[in-house]
Amino acid sequence: MEVAAPQPGPGEVLIRLHAAGVNPFDWKVAEGVLKDVIPHAFPLVLGNDGAGVIEQVGAGVSDYQPGDHVYGQFMDLERGHGTYAEYTIAAADGKIARIPLELPFTAAAALPTASITAYQAIRMAGLQSGQTILINGATGGVGQFAVQFAAQAGARVLATATPALSDHILGLGASEVIDFTSRAVSEYPRNVDVVLDLVHTPGGDIDKLAEVLRPGGTLLNTNHAAGSLIRQDIRGVNVTNHATTEELTLLAELTATGKLQVTVGASFALADAPAGIAEAKSGNAYGKTVVTIA
Ligand SMILES: NC(=O)c1ccc[n+]([C@@H]2O[C@H](COP(=O)([O-])OP(=O)(O)OC[C@H]3O[C@@H](n4cnc5c(N)ncnc54)[C@H](OP(=O)(O)O)[C@@H]3O)[C@@H](O)[C@H]2O)c1
Repeated sequence: MEVAAPQPGPGEVLIRLHAAGVNPFDWKVAEGVLKDVIPHAFPLVLGNDGAGVIEQVGAGVSDYQPGDHVYGQFMDLERGHGTYAEYTIAAADGKIARIPLELPFTAAAALPTASITAYQAIRMAGLQSGQTILINGATGGVGQFAVQFAAQAGARVLATATPALSDHILGLGASEVIDFTSRAVSEYPRNVDVVLDLVHTPGGDIDKLAEVLRPGGTLLNTNHAAGSLIRQDIRGVNVTNHATTEELTLLAELTATGKLQVTVGASFALADAPAGIAEAKSGNAYGKTVVTIA
């Protein structure tokens, strides 16, 4: 639908978006996951991740100028702002950062939520060189970045993947691929040091997955399911991403210099964003889904 472009208030910037990244969070918001937690302003523009060019700066903004290429997280439910739009607003001291001019907007838009979550999860795990990590959900947005960060930390990376994506995940640095469609969790390798679980939700059988850990190991989960772990001899960690300008700057630079690989598996025009969400939600994605905005 047509809505008026938002106006930047003091300390805010107006961004002309060129691409939006699709995340499970977007369709969870559309399904009302936060409706009892945060007030939502309607019409509500979906989309947390995006990249574009600063069009206008509000009063008091000195860190950014019109023409700067930026990316980050933008969804503001209380004001109805998001990135599946031509324009959005961000606080200048918020979850945004400049991107190198050579980094395409589509690649940048695919990064924020997934790469920050993976980066912070691997750091929270305290993963050491020579340790073994199992990444459950390794072919998804977060997983593909986590495989790379874990491999770069010198870990042995066991990654779940379908046969169709096996070579792709090995190419990102996985040591071994586990076909989750043909092997039961009870048959997964044991005695691993860290599990990064991107699949289980509260009420699921996360305890079965925890059995692969050695005593004293760490299980991290991105869906608030780690709190229900029954096993007492492991560390359960719920991961919630908190993007900072410093880390966004680092991740954009790593990507622009080829040290971090981002795979855009599908792209959709803004008018087709609902189809893009539906496709991303249906699974079997080769990489991130991006909405391009002319
Ligand atoms: N707390 C936070 O800050 C935070 C941040 C980012 C994401 N998240 C959450 O973390 C989860 C992962 O995010 P994402 O962006 O990576 O999602 P995604 O791109 O949809 O990836 C999910 C991956 O899990 C795979 N998968 C599904 N069932 C599986 C199973 N039984 N065993 C192994 N793998 C399986 C999927 O494979 P197929 O495609 O073959 O089905 C897909 O590759 C989502 O629930 C998301 O909401 C939380």
